[in-house]
Amino acid sequence: MANTILVGAQWGDEGKGKIIDVLTEQADIVVRTQGGNNAGHTVFVGKQKYVLHLIPSGILRKKKTCVIGNGVVIDPIGLVTEIEGLRKIGIKVSDNLLVSETAHVVFPYHRELDAQREVRKGKNKIGTTKRGIGPAYGDKAARVGLRMIDLVNAERFEEKLRLKITENNAVLKALGATPLSFKQVYAAYRQAADYLRPFVTNTVVLLHDAVRRGEDVLFEGAQGTFLDIDHGTYPFVTSSNTTAGGACTGSGVPPHKMDRVVGVMKAYTTRVGEGPLPTENAVISDLLHGMGREFGATTGRARRCGWFDSVATRHATMVNGIDDLAITNIDGLDTVETIQVCVGYRDGKKRYDYVPNDIEVLSRCEPIYVEFPGWQTSTEKAKTFKELPPKCRAYVKAISELTGAKLFIASVGPGREQTIFV
Ligand code: GDP
Ligand code: IMO
Ligand code: MG
Repeated sequence: MANTILVGAQWGDEGKGKIIDVLTEQADIVVRTQGGNNAGHTVFVGKQKYVLHLIPSGILRKKKTCVIGNGVVIDPIGLVTEIEGLRKIGIKVSDNLLVSETAHVVFPYHRELDAQREVRKGKNKIGTTKRGIGPAYGDKAARVGLRMIDLVNAERFEEKLRLKITENNAVLKALGATPLSFKQVYAAYRQAADYLRPFVTNTVVLLHDAVRRGEDVLFEGAQGTFLDIDHGTYPFVTSSNTTAGGACTGSGVPPHKMDRVVGVMKAYTTRVGEGPLPTENAVISDLLHGMGREFGATTGRARRCGWFDSVATRHATMVNGIDDLAITNIDGLDTVETIQVCVGYRDGKKRYDYVPNDIEVLSRCEPIYVEFPGWQTSTEKAKTFKELPPKCRAYVKAISELTGAKLFIASVGPGREQTIFV
């Protein structure tokens, strides 16, 4: 399959987990390279539903190696819970999971600071997942974070944590929040460290050895292009590079070893949390929510929904270098009579064919739509592209062309078998 980077081309929740699970069949190693347990990747195997937060979705396939790379921020207690949850339902998690020793650790003060910052922002809040992601990456950038290598070092960890708790308690107190008990945090993290120690290793060396042997590596992106700290709708973004470059820095595998980039996008648009969403639309939101769809996999929040935005996905093709597209949730539009697709934005007299960086301008932008006739037939059972209704094929082809990349997968349901290779 060659070394493949898979990214979300919209605002997250594009169906990356499902596509990763499908592509893992041809891969040897699956690597998470950024984000943390803010991610929620849903995979169905038969009727069994799995939601992965930190562990690569490849874990559900036998004989595959899964790596949590150096670019990820890890909540160790969350990771232990996730491993235990998978083991309970019979999924093997042992020497098939490797965790980078240089990945940064998320602590309770990160979560508390995340929550405090959101409260203080009031109506300007980001709508974070409150998993402490921003403060943890903040510490990493400020060079004051602790890494997995510190966590699993029994001699070093106690002293390092004591300093961090003292320092952060002063901040929490100043914000009027309850300070943390060193004893409690230490006990919990010490226990998680003992549990995780066997998994923690130098994943950079391991990945290079695998690449040298010619193994196929799949890089599982989390979040989406417009949540990228550099290329997203800042400040309404997450704190990592969710775009293709993040796969290199977050794993230590260099750019020239990457063979292709797959962009995953829904046949419409969703976003969870605050920030601009030019094509947001109440009709399609109500339709999808009425079908019981589009509720967050991590926080359960209702996702905001809108029409397909080709200005955004074209931008995603540009910054990620997307070669192939996986279009998911095509079946979500099965009942729609007339489908709208955004092909440009208008702010007063000015027309934009790209995503403006000024967040105030983007928030004011009105979408320019073209209409497509809906197919109004169920697509869920289609096994080949030919079996899709002609109007559906025309729509899927049109949004691929507008996005500027090759159509690779058309997904018509959450199941593995509901995947059409084009
Ligand atoms: P991720 O974060 O990108 O992995 O996406 P999520 O798992 O958060 O959200 C995508 C949702 O869409 C999940 O509930 C998937 O099971 C579901 N899904 C993925 N592809 C399809 C599809 O083609 N059709 C339908 N009906 N559901 C899909
Ligand atoms: P997956 O990998 C969708 C959003 C949050 C919020 C913003 C910042 O499942 O696609 P954070 O907690 O990261 O500081 O929140 O980013 N967000 C996601 N939205 N899918 C995700 O992950 C997300 N991870 C974070 O809702 O708007
Ligand atoms: Mg998700």
